[in-house]
Amino acid sequence: MSRGISLRADRAGLGKVGAVTEHDHYFTAHPASAEERRVLRVHLAGRELEVETARGIFSPDHVDLGTRVLLDHAPDAPATGQLLDLGCGWGPIALALALESPAAHVWAVDVNERALDLVRRNASRVGVTNLTAARPDEVPDDVRFAAIWSNPPIRVGKDALHELLLRWLPRLTDGGSAQLVVGKNLGADSLQRWIADQLPVTVERTASAKGFRVLTVT
Ligand SMILES: C[S@@+](CC[C@H](N)C(=O)[O-])C[C@H]1O[C@@H](n2cnc3c(N)ncnc32)[C@H](O)[C@@H]1O
Repeated sequence: MSRGISLRADRAGLGKVGAVTEHDHYFTAHPASAEERRVLRVHLAGRELEVETARGIFSPDHVDLGTRVLLDHAPDAPATGQLLDLGCGWGPIALALALESPAAHVWAVDVNERALDLVRRNASRVGVTNLTAARPDEVPDDVRFAAIWSNPPIRVGKDALHELLLRWLPRLTDGGSAQLVVGKNLGADSLQRWIADQLPVTVERTASAKGFRVLTVT
C-alpha cells in the first residue's frame, strides 16, 4: 500500500467516514489503518489552502458537508478569548476559527491521535500560530470558552455524545455560545430538546440546510 502523499480537490459530500477499516472508527485513539497521507486543496476562511489528511480520521477526502454548513451559517467567531473546536478531526473548523480570529486562541480537541497530528501539521502549513491541538484531558480545567464550534461525533452513540456535551457546554463563558451542526436524520431535533432539558441554556435552531441543522446554545 502506498504511503505517498497524493493531491485531491476539495469536494462537498456526505459525512461518511472515508477509508476507515471495519475495526477502525474515526474516533479510535490510535487508528490501525495505514495513514496514506494526502494533500487536499480546500476553501476555508475565505482562502484557498492546502491541508494534509490521512485514513483513519473523519472525512479525509473533503470538507464534510455538515462542517461546510456550520462554517457557512455560524455567526462571526469572537475576535478574542479562548475558542474550542470540539472533535477537530484534521481541523477544518479549528483552522477557520484561528484564521478568522487571529487574536483569539483556538483549542482543537480530539481523541484521535492521528487527527491531532494532522491538525498540528495543518496549522503549521497554513501559518496559524494561535492554535493548540490537545486530547480532552490536556485542556486545563480552568479554561472557559467564548465559543464552542463542533460537528460532534454522533456515531460514538447517544450516551457518549451526551457525556461529551455535558462535559464541555458548561465551560462556555457568560455570554459565550456554542454552534453545533447535526444531521436532521441523525437526531438534530431530539438533541436540541435534550440539551435544553439538561442544561440551563437556550438552544435555538439557527440554520437548516442540506440536511443539517445548526444549533446555537447560549
Ligand atoms: C464528526 S467528526 C468532525 C471532525 C472535524 N471537526 C470535521 O469537521 O471534519 C467528530 C470528531 O470528534 C472526535 N471525537 C470523538 N469522541 C470524542 C471525544 N470524547 N472528545 C473529543 N473528540 C471526540 C472524533 O475523533 C472526530 O474527529
